[in-house]
Amino acid sequence: MIYQIYPRSFKDNNSDGIGDLQGIISKLDYIKNLGVDAVWLNPIFSSPNDDNGYDVSDYRNIMSEFGTMQDFDELLQGMHKRGLKLILDLVANHTSDEHEWFKQSRSSRDNPYRNYYHWWAAEKGKPAKRYSFFDVESNAWKYDEQTNAYYLHYFSIKQPDLNWENPKVRQEIYDIMRFWFDKGVDGFRMDVIPFISKDTNFPELPEKYHGDFIRYYADGPHLHEYLHEMYREVLSKYNVMSVAEGVGVKTNTAMDFVDPERNELNMLYHFDAIDIGYLPDVYKTIDPKGYDLIEFKEIYSKWNDLFGDKGWGTIYLCNHDRPRMVTRWGNDSDEFRELSSKMLTTFLFTMRATPFYYNGDELGMTNIKFDRIDDYRDIETINMYKQIEASGGDLQQFIEAQKLSARDNSRTPFQWNDTLHAGFTSGVPWIKVNPNYTTINAEQQEKDDNSCLNYFKKLIKLRKQTSTLIYGKYTLLDKNNMKVYAYTRELNDHKILVLLNFSKDDAQANVDLKVANAKRLICNYTDVPLRNDAITLRPYEAVVYEL
Ligand code: NOJ
Repeated sequence: MIYQIYPRSFKDNNSDGIGDLQGIISKLDYIKNLGVDAVWLNPIFSSPNDDNGYDVSDYRNIMSEFGTMQDFDELLQGMHKRGLKLILDLVANHTSDEHEWFKQSRSSRDNPYRNYYHWWAAEKGKPAKRYSFFDVESNAWKYDEQTNAYYLHYFSIKQPDLNWENPKVRQEIYDIMRFWFDKGVDGFRMDVIPFISKDTNFPELPEKYHGDFIRYYADGPHLHEYLHEMYREVLSKYNVMSVAEGVGVKTNTAMDFVDPERNELNMLYHFDAIDIGYLPDVYKTIDPKGYDLIEFKEIYSKWNDLFGDKGWGTIYLCNHDRPRMVTRWGNDSDEFRELSSKMLTTFLFTMRATPFYYNGDELGMTNIKFDRIDDYRDIETINMYKQIEASGGDLQQFIEAQKLSARDNSRTPFQWNDTLHAGFTSGVPWIKVNPNYTTINAEQQEKDDNSCLNYFKKLIKLRKQTSTLIYGKYTLLDKNNMKVYAYTRELNDHKILVLLNFSKDDAQANVDLKVANAKRLICNYTDVPLRNDAITLRPYEAVVYEL
């Protein structure tokens, strides 16, 4: 079980309003007590923070706002002492434009670092269109006067893409990985790793990828050759784990990354499920009407089946790029926030995959839903806003939509207690604290046996004690039920039934299994219903039976 920490928003120790490594160190006992096995930290390397650390200017140093290398060593030691593993974020598709390699590269056409990045000489004419995620014009080619050439940036103009086709670049990255592994780091989450290999002729986007450029980006010509090389030269030499951010990867290609016989990576997290319910626009608008549970079940089942015999899956409902779990997939109203949050946690911990759980979701933290663009800090929201502004689009509508979908919703400070700024900082927080910290916070939930936090801990214990929940075969039941997600997990003769009501109404689970006398392993309601074998679930009820 992997717990994801967004360091910028977890705990500030030096009152500058920004979370830091000493802050995390001060909360190691909290993390240990959750019962998780490993922590994934979003990037902590030196960075000008155009994209909150996903723009690295020095891979062997700690971002000054987060602390020093000494702090890092202390953190790693503190985690290992407690039996926790530490996974760092490898951002290797691109660097910051303030990285020394890029400064050299852009300085002249014959600089030895020129080929560390992708350049297109302007005398060849304009390069073929490549889309950028964080560019006001969605243009991934930026003209650079100094050498009369364009450089490629799939993300912001301050995130130039590295040229992985250059063997020297690959060796640099492998060296960086060795540097951290030699320090004792236990693994890497690999940022947009499917994007690393590119056809350096940069032809027009092939016809079949029109409207789906992400799949094109994720399907470069030498991608698997490089991942295999990385395994051979680095990963195989250490006892570590690797997980790809599987952007653009579908079930037909996923096994190429994680098939143990191919010797590439251990796991991948896909976007198929997290992407459900978006409207077909470019502003990442989530349909406010909700999502289709049948589609949700189909996708999770399909991915489960893919790893039935080999490979291994992951599961998550939120991360730093997505809105809060309970707002997005549950119901964040006062009436149902706790119940639905616990129900979703039950889902994550009873599926056959490694759960990645985002900090704050264990408290049922909710989207902040900013009313004003000035409250946003994220380059993605800010640049989309500028784009709409420039084209005369509906800004109010955009602000409304961002209340559901913006990344900053999950980046607000962790809610530790009910003192000023939720106990996150004694300074001025870099982004506003969600005002609901007075009622939703860790301190209060620690004392309450029925809190989201304590439910989360109970579930983790249950999963750890029950190998059927980890390894058991998954079978979907009552597939066409629009409100209930029901499945069994089976290992040898042991069988578990999971029933989850994803709706705010009572709902019938049509499973042909007798539960009247079955043992209830966990439930998010404290009172036991009178249940005959026709199973009616209460709103957002989650119940796990041993059959
Ligand atoms: C994926 C990361 O999760 C996201 O936060 C970042 O903006 C992009 N990759 C670019 O590195």
